[in-house]
Amino acid sequence: MDRLLITGGRRLSGAVRVNGAKNSALKLMAAALLAEGTTIIENTPRIVDCLTMAEVLEHLGASVAWEGSTVTVDTSGARGLETPYELVRKMRASIVVLGPLLARWGRARVAMPGGCNIGSRYIDLHLKGLERMGAEFSYEHGYLEASAPDLHGAVVWLDFPSVGATENLLMAAVGAAGTTVIENAAREPEIQDLAAMLVEMGARVDGAGTTTMEIQGVDAFRPIRHRVVPDRIEAGTFAIAAAATLGDVRIEDARAEHLDLFLSKLADSGAGIEVEPGSIRVWASDRPLAVDFVTLPYPGFPTDLQPQMMALMAGGRGTSIATENVFESRFMFVDELNRMGADIRTEGHHAVIRGVERLQSAPVRALDIRAGAAMVIAALSADGISEISDLHHVDRGYENLEERLASLGAELRREPSLWPAAV
Ligand code: EPU
Repeated sequence: MDRLLITGGRRLSGAVRVNGAKNSALKLMAAALLAEGTTIIENTPRIVDCLTMAEVLEHLGASVAWEGSTVTVDTSGARGLETPYELVRKMRASIVVLGPLLARWGRARVAMPGGCNIGSRYIDLHLKGLERMGAEFSYEHGYLEASAPDLHGAVVWLDFPSVGATENLLMAAVGAAGTTVIENAAREPEIQDLAAMLVEMGARVDGAGTTTMEIQGVDAFRPIRHRVVPDRIEAGTFAIAAAATLGDVRIEDARAEHLDLFLSKLADSGAGIEVEPGSIRVWASDRPLAVDFVTLPYPGFPTDLQPQMMALMAGGRGTSIATENVFESRFMFVDELNRMGADIRTEGHHAVIRGVERLQSAPVRALDIRAGAAMVIAALSADGISEISDLHHVDRGYENLEERLASLGAELRREPSLWPAAV
């Protein structure tokens, strides 16, 4: 278990390149299961979650090789149907192999995901949708046994535009007989990236990026080469870090069009923003103004930037209100921010953030990927040396974060943790 020691108060400046999106790469790797042969996925972040997805694929019999940020998935030997609990407990997104396994082999055995630090994360919408398409499920000792010998198209209405459910249904539908319509589908850029790759593989998908997707099932898929879309959440994290440290950072390979609402909120806080083709420059010269924000599915304010934005607002001028609508308990990190002198009170899914002049350094924990990123941002802007433990959470989603921040002038170093794992 590592910790990060950060000396706050250094203004970040220079340029940093955004990696491929974690939440796209994971699904693209799972989609490789649909085609027999070798699929090549470029711009894949070499983060713990993608390594876990590689283990999931290997467990299913595929071979996975990395060369830099290019991952090669050879499914010639893939015959396995089981995703074990030891992998699903490391990463809930492992459940996304369900769709491709049902499409290709009509059967799957996947461990049920358990608890999560950001609230209950049900998979009922995945299962209801797949049931409409002819799949049957039973539960055996913590495992979901799925069978769909005659997977067929159906009209599926999602109660909520769940990212994972849309992806699982999409990957099942591309190989099902007939037409599937997903109503109230998630519209995230990562879904659009997955649909684009599936189409390259031979699938017939219309409406990706809108609330209604229509999919005509096909019989076979070809292995292809695909490049992962840039990570909008990583771009947003660097943008907030630039603003929080009163820095000036050019974020390269970022897609501003995937961050419209977020960038307008950042501009409302007083940050300077310059969008150029392929990059976004963000700078700030004063403490941020208080800005209210409400998380919603895309194109709303991303829940995956809520903790980082809270860290920025913690040092803001005035009082702001954050509302979290996507996850039920994504405010658990607030107590950690308050240990750094923030003044934040939560009530249900609202948080009232009274900005303080300067956060103070403190030993704190990273509670999940984005909460960890928020603690990093708070520490970069705080007075003194902070220590962030449980860094493995941050490593799940950000590749070489400390090296990239150091290249922007941050003063930080990674060390083995002094603390035993938290209970
Ligand atoms: N939900 C249900 N039933 C379902 C599915 C979802 O009730 O069957 C609820 C969940 O409990 C949650 C909400 O719907 O409250 C949103 O869940 P969604 O399915 O949209 O999220 P996900 O697919 O589990 C992905 C990302 C998350 C990101 C969310 C929302 C991946 C691997 N994860 O999760 O990313 O926050 O979409 O955009 O793609 C992160 O990167 O740190 C992260 C948590």
